[in-house]
Amino acid sequence: MRLKIVAGNWKMNTTVEQGVALSQSLLEQISQVPEDVILAIAPPFTHLYSVYQQIVNSRIALGAQNCAAYDKGAYTGEVSAAMLASVPCKYVIIGHSERREYYREDAPILNKKLALALQAGLIPIFCVGERLEEREAGRHFEVIASQLKEAITVLTPSDFSKVVIAYEPVWAIGTGKTATSEQAQEAHAFIRKILAESFGVLAAQTSILYGGSCKSSNAAELFAQKDIDGGLIGGASLQADEFIAIAKAF
Ligand code: PGA
Repeated sequence: MRLKIVAGNWKMNTTVEQGVALSQSLLEQISQVPEDVILAIAPPFTHLYSVYQQIVNSRIALGAQNCAAYDKGAYTGEVSAAMLASVPCKYVIIGHSERREYYREDAPILNKKLALALQAGLIPIFCVGERLEEREAGRHFEVIASQLKEAITVLTPSDFSKVVIAYEPVWAIGTGKTATSEQAQEAHAFIRKILAESFGVLAAQTSILYGGSCKSSNAAELFAQKDIDGGLIGGASLQADEFIAIAKAF
């Protein structure tokens, strides 16, 4: 059985105080979320330990939005995977399109981050997805396949079995334009097929999350698709009621 995961990517939003208040509101409502759904949140680095203290011993899992491509040392401003594991975080988002685009994170960098995250015992949530012009040119499958082949199908089966994939079409992120459930299902089935070519039956166990303007009004239809195992939620994860409503949409 695949794990159902709804993960909130807070991006660069909230002060520590606001983040702690948001996690407190989630704690108050977590009992409404079905037991078999994992609710995870990825606050900014500065918030992690305070939020951890808030949610420790609860069903809410903690993640980070990024980690360094180096293990330690003179890398001013960076946060290592081992530091995240020491909070402790459980998840780390790697390869988000905003990191790929604004911070020029390419396959060699992402491969290092994946290796360090796995070595630290973190579960990577690895993001793939095409840009608008790539979809319009009919190249979305090609783009997704190459993102997977550069970083994921090169993993050992044991490492691969720990990874969560997020399909996030760049044109749907923060734009209010959600992929239709048919478009999303088609992409997720394609991702699973590529993973199965390298990892066989293990691909059937991989959770593949959808991300991109997912909200409570469209989550149920998306999550009802055969190959959609949850969501990576940006904007809508900043409001506790809305985020909980998404997690209840399964
Ligand atoms: P969004 O972002 O839900 O605000 O579109 C999703 C993401 O970037 O993970």
